[in-house]
Amino acid sequence: MTTRKILVTSALPYANGSIHLGHLVEYIQTDIWVRFQKMQGHEVHYVCADDTHGTPIMLRAETEGITPEQLIARVWQEHYDDFAAFHVQFDHYGSTNSNETKEFAQGIYRELKAANLIEVRSIEQFYDPVKNMFLPDRFIKGECPKCHAKDQYGDNCEVCGAAYAPIELIAPYSAVSGAKPEMRNSDHYFFKLSAEPCQQFLREWTKSGSLQPEAANKMQEWLGAEGESKLSDWDISRDAPYFGFEIPDAPGKYFYVWLDAPVGYMGSFKKLCEIKGLDFNEYWKPDSTAEMYHFIGKDILYFHALFWPAMLKNAGYRTPNKLFAHGFLTVNGEKMSKSRGTFITAKSYVDNIKNTEYLRYYYAAKINGTMEDLDLNLDDFVAKVNSDLIGKYINIASRCAGFIAKRFDGKLGETDLTAVSEFKAAFDGGEIARCFEEREFSRALREIMRLADVANQYIAEQKPWALAKEEGRDAELHIACSTAMTLFRDLTLYLKPVLPVLAEQVEAFLNIPPLAWNASWQPLAAGHPINSYQHLATRLDPKLIAALTAANQASLSPTPAVVPHSEQRHAEAQQHATEVTEEKNFEPFISIEDFAKIDLRVARIVNAEHVEGAAKLLKLTLDIGEANPRTVFAGIKSAYDPETLKGRMTVMVANLAPRKMKFGMSEGMVLAASGDTPGLFILSPDDGAQPGMRIK
Ligand code: MSP
Ligand code: ZN
Repeated sequence: MTTRKILVTSALPYANGSIHLGHLVEYIQTDIWVRFQKMQGHEVHYVCADDTHGTPIMLRAETEGITPEQLIARVWQEHYDDFAAFHVQFDHYGSTNSNETKEFAQGIYRELKAANLIEVRSIEQFYDPVKNMFLPDRFIKGECPKCHAKDQYGDNCEVCGAAYAPIELIAPYSAVSGAKPEMRNSDHYFFKLSAEPCQQFLREWTKSGSLQPEAANKMQEWLGAEGESKLSDWDISRDAPYFGFEIPDAPGKYFYVWLDAPVGYMGSFKKLCEIKGLDFNEYWKPDSTAEMYHFIGKDILYFHALFWPAMLKNAGYRTPNKLFAHGFLTVNGEKMSKSRGTFITAKSYVDNIKNTEYLRYYYAAKINGTMEDLDLNLDDFVAKVNSDLIGKYINIASRCAGFIAKRFDGKLGETDLTAVSEFKAAFDGGEIARCFEEREFSRALREIMRLADVANQYIAEQKPWALAKEEGRDAELHIACSTAMTLFRDLTLYLKPVLPVLAEQVEAFLNIPPLAWNASWQPLAAGHPINSYQHLATRLDPKLIAALTAANQASLSPTPAVVPHSEQRHAEAQQHATEVTEEKNFEPFISIEDFAKIDLRVARIVNAEHVEGAAKLLKLTLDIGEANPRTVFAGIKSAYDPETLKGRMTVMVANLAPRKMKFGMSEGMVLAASGDTPGLFILSPDDGAQPGMRIK
């Protein structure tokens, strides 16, 4: 077998937030793949770094009263520790705020400029006259031009979903200072992606097999048909003040964070080259025979499939062999949510569950190499860990190892060769390898668990626990347990990319050298001493899951207004990428049929009065066109004087099951809005609506 040289990256996490279980879908996935390749004996380098530049990081540092450098140093350590806890083993974990990245970014820019692909254009943009800075779209807020919802971001409305330009906002204000922004002109630097050779190159690249079919389809959409130039030029500059790298010969102009972010792959690898004495050019020059792969989430495909290859190509570097894009994590079938406690940080998982290989196992059981979203169902997580990982795999050792220590002085006996060959016949090691190679980890694990079934079947037939109680059956007991140890070793070999630490413990327990894929493994020899069995892993207690979600709910804190989570996802990504899993505290989607179950009616408040002894309630009499008006107790006393309500129209839920309250029967519910700021607001229909009209 020839040794492949492979450079692998995961996307560089932003330095303005904690690592959460969503991120880990990517880093665990990459790590499993890298470990598999290393076990094959290939020369693999896995690099990553923190993505440190941009406005949100600059502003967050300011809010915290520290320098951006201090902020990113602290976050770097947190990220590094989180990844280490999940056994994500980078060969180098750097930072985009490094000399290496700076030099490559500036070098690439110079090449693009020399190739006539940089253009300076004056653009008009909102400027914060108090803060003295241009405002990224996500830092401008105002009233939605479509639905008139207040406090919406400059690029899209979270209430009605409309997308627009910040200039269309009604009464815009700066989310940084609250000031009214002014339109100002400024020179921006553009990468001329629309240039015909660029488009041509990207069309070819799309077809080169570097993309998964779903990703290639997206690209077709972005590029448009042949001759239909859909790509626009890419604005790669931002004005000072900005935390980033200065553009050469352009004072006060900085590279937009997404320009230097992927260059961070090069910077981090360059550092590794210095540490390990590798040849950088062997991996990055156009004649490179090394392989290069980027693992990314589907939300950043646009940057990696368009901008990045175009930058590399035009600056005299090679392009990646493949982009491995994955989908987004949902928890219990829904977007991660702080209010439900399912926005789970890596740190809180470590604090509450401790064993991080459980999650590696579960993710592996779900990862299939496509861009589909992946669900972490917390009940299923517990079930799978306990039934498969513990029940099928660990149990092989825990049921048999004790006898070797107690009865045979810790030494193995003969192996049942028939059992071993039946085991080997039951599967195809080549197929498992193929599954790992293709990132179909779920399929690999299914195969491995099928194999574990075969091993368990053997143990069930031999019944070592019964043999141990019978006179004169020691020889059989010895063979059964020794054979089980060989089967356990082989299963461990295949699981090692997924469970690296457990595999090391097994190696120590079985007293064997590190398991590597291609060695031809003979059954463990008779007389081979093993160490006494210590518990390798225990069942996952569902109580820990409850503690985990509670911990993440407890840490719920209002998001600071000045630092929207996703500013750096530039408008391009906003428009083109599939929706990003972000916390908005919204309820999960329902179908129109679900909604139709709620019978909302226009109601006239015919009477409103205080209720004796009730601190919060008003008693409302509501006419919804029925013979008898309804009585509804509503918790709006703090906000309304009953007198002012009489005669008003509002909205009620007419089919809420009647509820007996201390003060009488309540036959429905009126709707009111409330939020983080004080106040309670009942609804009114527009003029003309009549009592009893259905709202749908
Ligand atoms: N900084 C950019 C990447 C620059 S790469 C040159 C970024 N950072 S991120 O922190 O937002 O995300 C890092 C990676 O984690 C991305 O590939 C992203 O898709 C992935 N994930 C972040 N949240 C995720 C989920 N909820 N689910 C799955 N992957 C997710 O994007
Ligand atoms: Zn709107």
